[in-house]
Amino acid sequence: MTPLRQGQEISVEIDGLVYGGAGYARFEMYDILVSRGLPGDRLVVRIFLVRQTTAYADIVRIVAPSSSRRIPVCPVFEEGCGACQWLHLDYAAQLVWKRRLAVNALQAYPELHSAAVQETEAMQDPYFYRNKMVVRVRGAQNQVRVGFQDARGRVLDVFGKEDGQCYIQQPLNNRLGRALSASLAKERRPLKSATIRSTDENEVSLDMDRKLTAAISADLQGVGNQQTQVHYTVLNRRFRVTSPSFFQASTRQTAVLVQTAMRFLPERMETAIDVYCGVGLFTLMLADRARQVYGIEESHTAIADAEYNAAAYGAGHIRFVREKAEIALPEIVREAGEVDAILLDPPRSGCHPATLEAVSRCRPRALVYVSCNVMTLSRDLATLNSFGLSPVVVQPVDMFPHTYHVECVALCVWAKNLASSADEIHIADPIPGK
Ligand SMILES: C[S@@+](CC[C@H](N)C(=O)[O-])C[C@H]1O[C@@H](n2cnc3c(N)ncnc32)[C@H](O)[C@@H]1O
Repeated sequence: MTPLRQGQEISVEIDGLVYGGAGYARFEMYDILVSRGLPGDRLVVRIFLVRQTTAYADIVRIVAPSSSRRIPVCPVFEEGCGACQWLHLDYAAQLVWKRRLAVNALQAYPELHSAAVQETEAMQDPYFYRNKMVVRVRGAQNQVRVGFQDARGRVLDVFGKEDGQCYIQQPLNNRLGRALSASLAKERRPLKSATIRSTDENEVSLDMDRKLTAAISADLQGVGNQQTQVHYTVLNRRFRVTSPSFFQASTRQTAVLVQTAMRFLPERMETAIDVYCGVGLFTLMLADRARQVYGIEESHTAIADAEYNAAAYGAGHIRFVREKAEIALPEIVREAGEVDAILLDPPRSGCHPATLEAVSRCRPRALVYVSCNVMTLSRDLATLNSFGLSPVVVQPVDMFPHTYHVECVALCVWAKNLASSADEIHIADPIPGK
């Protein structure tokens, strides 16, 4: 067997998809990761990188396509745009593969076998859903390109054409993208990136280089009402969000995410803690069920928004703490005494070990872990399991159609309560093949 080299072409059949979105094939002793490869595809691919026994490849020719392969609706996807990875994969198949990515990540820890991974909760209308867009900009004046990067870091022009649009962005974000591109076509000063948000209330916010803001804002007049603070409504609660506070990327699907998390929590609680609470999304929902609620968040703007949102909702029994979770949670656990429920919704990097230790010390009746990264979720669930808090169920929720990203909501309970909690929340049997 001769070692694979860069530039070599080989024939492969794709067996599955991996975290990151690539198709996976086996070739002799190598794992081959093929960008845009889909399960069932028979392909000729060209190797562009070899690292020990893993090789990375691009498609040269499709010999026989996967039955799940679709013609992508977006012409920029065909150029290699990195905003989506799976726009060419049938949506039902995306949902199956998202669940499988969660199963695969959990299976790296044999002790997590008790978790029943449910079928992925779909998005009703899986296009034009994102409320926040980060666009990259290269070039200036009539050479300007406003759009997203491909796998090699090149910025592809999405918004320079009259009808240019991204199929996962809300229509108002697309209008802003086009207006920004037209404005920058007149501008000599270069811009690297801009963050755009839009809401169902026709509000827009623009975050970019301060020196350019005045000129560009004037050009964007009339494309939504420009604000520094915007508002999203989820399950009849209205949330103020001030840049750079975090908010979930799809306003519509956030309702599904919140309902999933709340389904796993007790109906009545004395004390509940929302760790990594952002602008108070889950905190306000917990406030309906608990007599005392804590929200912990490190961001100044998010905690100010959370306090404002709680006051507007008349929830005077919430206490927000602006601090790192790993510092604040151990103190709150000491102060609160018995805690009924903890909700964790950390950033992609997952939880600090001190946060997980504090969770286990206060022995909540239920722990709900909301995660946008199945790798760090599995790692943290294994840590919690070693403390006696076992995962019962993991519910994937599709917050990011046409990408490999999968949001999961996991419920953990004390090992001795496993059987009764499964009954209480009517968890379906584990799906065969887990
Ligand atoms: C995924 S967001 C979730 C926010 C909120 N639960 C929601 O759904 O809107 C994670 C939040 O954790 C905050 N954060 C990141 N690291 C933190 C830390 N070490 N301690 C406390 N908050 C942190 C971020 O500012 C962000 O608001």
